[in-house]
Amino acid sequence: MRVLVTGGAGYIGSHTLLELLAQGHEVCVLDNYANAAPDVLDRVRALSNRPLRDETGDVRDRSRLDKIMDDFAPEAVIHFAGLKAVGESGTNPLGYYDVNINGTLTLLQAMQRADCKRIIFSSSATVYGEPQYLPYDEAHPLNPMSVYGRTKLMAEQILTDWAAAQPDRATVLLRYFNPVGAHPSADLGEDPRDTPNNLMPLIAQVATGKREALQVYGDDYDTPDGTGLRDYIHVVDLARAHLAALSYAATQSGARPFNIGTGQNYSVREMVQAFEKASGRKIPTINSPRRDGDVAAMQADARRANRELGWQATHGLDDMAASTWAWQTKNHNG
Ligand code: NAD
Ligand code: UFG
Repeated sequence: MRVLVTGGAGYIGSHTLLELLAQGHEVCVLDNYANAAPDVLDRVRALSNRPLRDETGDVRDRSRLDKIMDDFAPEAVIHFAGLKAVGESGTNPLGYYDVNINGTLTLLQAMQRADCKRIIFSSSATVYGEPQYLPYDEAHPLNPMSVYGRTKLMAEQILTDWAAAQPDRATVLLRYFNPVGAHPSADLGEDPRDTPNNLMPLIAQVATGKREALQVYGDDYDTPDGTGLRDYIHVVDLARAHLAALSYAATQSGARPFNIGTGQNYSVREMVQAFEKASGRKIPTINSPRRDGDVAAMQADARRANRELGWQATHGLDDMAASTWAWQTKNHNG
């Protein structure tokens, strides 16, 4: 299939490109490099040994999109491009609504003009908000607690309405849990521009000595060791979920959300231990107050994705930690 991948130079996008190319898809990337290294696509080309088209541009640029649609004529779009820092979304709400909502609207308008009918969207488990029950299934109430989460929910709604307007359109909403890890080559991984927001890159920076200690945000949660529980998913498993979603969208219509997680969760302390094992280094920690907006625990009920997409996570915690460490040590600025 010809697939346009917005945000394909980013963390999850770059891993997905490799899976798409390995399966023989023709791929074109649109990225403005707001949060990606300029050489990522060269690494993807080298690893895959396959041609890859790329366009440097903004997903809000309608004329650019129209041109790509005319030249490349994608049969499906995977839409990763967006801003994703929860804290920053509260201080820059208009910036987040602009990129995440206007970006999605502009993309859909260009797709509609070009009669492209299938889209896979990067949504997030954050759309659920405070758990009413766990694991979250896709029917759990949606009540995001941040501007970022609300942009994801609004985009889901727009995509759902778009799909409903014509009988042959398909939208797959992938609600990712906590992506971690790196490609086994250690040539692709998470490369945060500024101070990382997420646990794994922060732990990795403590292991390399870039940071003195990890702040553990809350050790008094109602969890077995008092620290937050999350459903961490290896980025290669997550990338493969997009291939499964693409096959699904080729035969189905309408909009459907899927949880993409492992169904298991681990505490902050368990993540630290796994990383100490993988790196052979001690990770000093400091107990700190709870972080605003954090929930005690998250966990996916991923059975719908198992059943309907035929997808299942296969990488475990040791692999998540070991691949992050390999990436971090091979790419000192990564
Ligand atoms: P990332 O920042 O590494 O990738 C996003 C990519 O989009 C980057 O390459 C960036 O340069 C590009 N981009 C940003 N704004 C753009 C614009 N206006 N036009 C064109 N390109 C633009 O992030 P990621 O972790 O790979 O996340 C990909 C998607 O998945 C995002 O939509 C994110 O919200 C969503 N998501 C991520 C997580 C996570 O924890 N990583 C969890 C749930 C959902
Ligand atoms: N944590 C610490 N110390 C840190 C960073 C994080 O203790 O320095 C803890 C958090 O309190 C939480 C856990 O580690 O218990 C995971 O935190 P992350 O910031 O890595 O991830 P979140 O679950 O807060 O959020 C992530 C993404 C969101 C996404 C959400 C659900 O950042 O974009 O997962 O998918 F919406």
